[in-house]
Amino acid sequence: MSDLAIETSGLVKVFGKTRAVDGVDLAVPAGTVYGVLGPNGAGKTTAVRMLATLLRPDGGQARVFGHDVLREPDAVRQRVSLTGQYASIDEDLTGIENLVLLGRLLGHRKPAARRRADQLLEAFGLTDAGGRQVKNYSGGMRRRIDIAASILRTPDVLFLDEPTTGLDPRSRNQVWDIVRIIVAQGTTVLLTTQYLDEADHLAGRIAVIDHGKVIAEGTPGDLKASVGAGSIHVRLRDGAQRAEAQRVMARALGSTVELGGDPVSLTARIGGGESDLGAAEHAARALSDLAQAGITVDDFSLGQPSLDEVFLALTDHPTEEEAAA
Ligand SMILES: Nc1ncnc2c1ncn2[C@@H]1O[C@H](COP(=O)(O)OP(=O)(O)OP(=O)(O)O)[C@@H](O)[C@H]1O
Ligand SMILES: [Mg+2]
Repeated sequence: MSDLAIETSGLVKVFGKTRAVDGVDLAVPAGTVYGVLGPNGAGKTTAVRMLATLLRPDGGQARVFGHDVLREPDAVRQRVSLTGQYASIDEDLTGIENLVLLGRLLGHRKPAARRRADQLLEAFGLTDAGGRQVKNYSGGMRRRIDIAASILRTPDVLFLDEPTTGLDPRSRNQVWDIVRIIVAQGTTVLLTTQYLDEADHLAGRIAVIDHGKVIAEGTPGDLKASVGAGSIHVRLRDGAQRAEAQRVMARALGSTVELGGDPVSLTARIGGGESDLGAAEHAARALSDLAQAGITVDDFSLGQPSLDEVFLALTDHPTEEEAAA
């Protein structure tokens, strides 16, 4: 058996004129969480559906634990589970009734199905809700029962397609805990997300995709390192001084200073590896220059680059304009 859970090369899916997936190469190590990060319409769901054998690729190859999705779809299907697809939750049944029913369909005897259902409800914080009809669940509870249903039979690979979109922070954290439990049990998780911090929290490696193409790949640390050391956020007492502050900071840091949404804030990236100074020294120098220029700073913070910044840096890169020019 390969130590790659998923391997694709040149994977393509075309819908009419849209190249939804446009030559994607992925190598997902077994036993890890792999993040596929991209905005609306990037091609995430299309890629996942091909890997789960629900859509036929138009080009390239995809293998799941060495099994080709086109030539050996049954072998692939035995190993994968896709939340929200194979798990058909009946809204009129209670949480426990759903899980017991699905367990019975998988061939478990009733006591075993019941035990597994209880175990999953408890692991997912749904024990109290287990006796209620699913149609009365909140969005977060619904997402959790969907995931529970998709791992009744522990899959080798679980596809979670935007498992936390639209959830509040607490529900997101609960889903994250669930993902960690699933991976600890040996399942490889391919997680698509639009939330950069989600990939950062959960994934060992991340592929950033845009317009059907992988535009960056690596560990969260690799991706962050590629955009520099971090950033400094500054809030001024007087918004009238912002233009001057922008000039002073740009000079001190040698980087572009962006204006924040409110009239007193500014953000600047702190330079990358070319300098021996650490992020804190750079920031201290900028703050001291501001003070010398008579600009009052009410508040400041240092931030690690977020994956948001990574994504913006990657996608704002003028390759599209260059290509058009
Ligand atoms: N069945 C289909 N028929 C035609 N076009 C499609 C179909 N499915 C997807 N597309 C198009 O393919 C592109 C990729 O869509 P996809 O759903 O894979 O994106 P996504 O990354 O999952 O986006 P989101 O974050 O919004 O879920 C989009 O332009 C979409 O409109
Ligand atoms: Mg999608």
